[in-house]
Amino acid sequence: MTLTLPDSIRDRFPLLDQVVYTASCSQGALSTEVRAAYEQYLTDWDEKGAPWQLWVERSESARSRFARLLNADTDEIAVTTSVSAGVSSLLSGLKVLGDRNKIVMSDFEFPTIGQNVHAQELVGVKVQHVPAASDVTIPLDRLAEAIDEETGLVAITHVCFRNGSLTDVKEVIRIAHEAGALVLLDSFQAVGAVDIDVRELDVDFVVGGTLKYLLGSAGLGFLYSRADLLPGIVPTQTGWFADEDIFEMDIFDYSPSATARKFESGTPPIPSIYAGVAGMDLMDEIGIAATEQHIKGLTAQLVEGLDRIGAKMVTPRDPSKRGPMVAIAATDDLALAGALESDGILAAPRDGNLRLSWHCYNSEEDVEAVIKGLERHSNLLAR
Ligand SMILES: Cc1ncc(COP(=O)(O)O)c(C=O)c1O
Repeated sequence: MTLTLPDSIRDRFPLLDQVVYTASCSQGALSTEVRAAYEQYLTDWDEKGAPWQLWVERSESARSRFARLLNADTDEIAVTTSVSAGVSSLLSGLKVLGDRNKIVMSDFEFPTIGQNVHAQELVGVKVQHVPAASDVTIPLDRLAEAIDEETGLVAITHVCFRNGSLTDVKEVIRIAHEAGALVLLDSFQAVGAVDIDVRELDVDFVVGGTLKYLLGSAGLGFLYSRADLLPGIVPTQTGWFADEDIFEMDIFDYSPSATARKFESGTPPIPSIYAGVAGMDLMDEIGIAATEQHIKGLTAQLVEGLDRIGAKMVTPRDPSKRGPMVAIAATDDLALAGALESDGILAAPRDGNLRLSWHCYNSEEDVEAVIKGLERHSNLLAR
């Protein structure tokens, strides 16, 4: 008998025997594979001492995993320690903007993007925000209006971390390119749960990390940059792993790599790389397209249940406008998350909402358990 999701893989996640896990938008559940990868790191360290050749090779294998994941070339991938690190290096070198000295960003961005973009005001960049509409989407006509002949870059989030709204990425990219602007896409809340193909999207830059739906842990991210843009970008925020010849140990000039490695910094996050590679391999085995379909089914079931108990959804109702996470309004999100936790349900509170996110390992029973839990604590639901 062939098992389908989630039965085929649930036993890889011991935590699921103890709790209903719906916090993957914050961090993916720990698998036996990722635990083993961390143990392997300690074994290699213990047995081999300082195997830097091996560790640099591991870092390169993270790069090739990211490239395969996004349908990019390895030379278009920087292996980073966080989205913040990748974005600050990128923005520090974006002379490619030339006279186009304005960045347009949506109000759905994560602080990583907001703070890095506003930091550019210190070097004379103008920033314009595009607020959300009442249907919890970023209105494309307002975005198009904001992107003018001064705009060099448009920063958008793939799935909003606060409310689960899914951006029409392809359309934003079309609008931005038509107006001559580049697009930076933050896919952290999508990668691993949504198929991403940089060629198909025709996107310029993409950032994300392994912590959430890629089942890795903190400390490992990526920055994709389209190959033809690389020669025009010279980061001033840098580190020795960005050099064209790392082990030349040059201290007399700055000569960054011609590839996307120019966005890297110092010594790579080796333990996180072991874990991240194991997480990506596991997602490769499970299949992101199959996961995406599975999540859509669970999300539809959740929405039906929320309607049944009268819970107010913050995420757009249209299935084509939401990602793997659904946010619901709470009178006190922390208290609601705490009440559910004492019932054995782990969810992720944020910004007044309770976020419920599904992954390959969640089951229909998990969704029912969450709906029952919310019904039990309905005094904490905002109507
Ligand atoms: C959309 C989004 N971007 C970025 C981040 C994190 O950024 P960083 O890797 O800089 O911590 C998160 C969550 O942690 C996120 O949800």
